[in-house]
Amino acid sequence: MKSFQFANESSPVSLTPDFILPEHKRPHLSEVTFSDSIPIIDLSHLDVVHKISKACEEFGFFQIVNHGVPDQVCTKMMKAITNFFELAPEERKHLSSTDHTKNVRLVNYLLRVDGGETVKLWSENFVHPWYPMDDIISLLPENIGTQYREAFTEYAKEISSLVRRLLSLISIGLGLEEDFLLKKLGEQPRQRAQANFYPPCSNPELTMGLTEHTDINALTVLLQSEVSGLQVNKDGKWISIPCIPNAFVINLADQIEVLSNGRYKSVLHRAVTNKVHSRMSMAMFYGPNSDTIIGPIQELIDEEHPQKYRNYRFSDFVEEFYCHGTKSMLN
Ligand code: OGA
Ligand code: NI
Repeated sequence: MKSFQFANESSPVSLTPDFILPEHKRPHLSEVTFSDSIPIIDLSHLDVVHKISKACEEFGFFQIVNHGVPDQVCTKMMKAITNFFELAPEERKHLSSTDHTKNVRLVNYLLRVDGGETVKLWSENFVHPWYPMDDIISLLPENIGTQYREAFTEYAKEISSLVRRLLSLISIGLGLEEDFLLKKLGEQPRQRAQANFYPPCSNPELTMGLTEHTDINALTVLLQSEVSGLQVNKDGKWISIPCIPNAFVINLADQIEVLSNGRYKSVLHRAVTNKVHSRMSMAMFYGPNSDTIIGPIQELIDEEHPQKYRNYRFSDFVEEFYCHGTKSMLN
């Protein structure tokens, strides 16, 4: 097995005590369901509005195939991510930062456990905006930077159109005008990318790649490499999401839960580690403009569906989350 070193660590990654989760935070992999899974929706079929709307209500997650994004654009993106994470630690270390206001940064997330202690998660995450790419590139060795910029620029363009299409299908499914959600989220939306890398882990029962969370944005489009690891919570049980080459995993995030007045849920998910293979994914987060006021859409409130959430400015949601780790607006 090729050894891998997290950029902010001084030695190759190994299962030292600081990665080991307390018993109740462990993944308990024998309890995970592999049989039934979230819906796989063929976007070239008729009746996708109904299928998506049903998937959003029942799971908050679905996969899409025949989505129109060329395979080679996805393959190139994955290749660029691989090369990025294969950079020697000293070539990407300078990107490491715990400052969440930094536009471009390399992160190793920590889980706060009882007693205020932290446990390291078994992943490295490269976070950056969708546009512009120039300042990112100047931070990387030239050949890797150029490859990443080219792959990502093309990828982001495709994902932008896909997100518009999905937002309109979701709007129609909610009984709204086709462009409702896109307009509601506003001009200059929050568009962040997170390339995730999970090196092989000698004991996946003791660690977690990403612990359970919901995404803070509106809609997430995830591309994963051919190694499974993503799991979604349904009625308290964890379901594993199978890998389908060049399919996207779509999930509704917190802001659509609120906008839909709880009809669509932002569902808990997590990424577990793999004993043999390293795993990669690219999460494309699409969220509101920071000044957008988010709250349940008037058309979705009536006597049977009273307003479940208050109105707030999206920037306040983001700030509360990053400064306090809480999401009181969802309560
Ligand atoms: C995320 C996420 C899952 C994965 O980046 O928010 O949930 O499979 N990623 O990498
Ligand atoms: Ni997520």
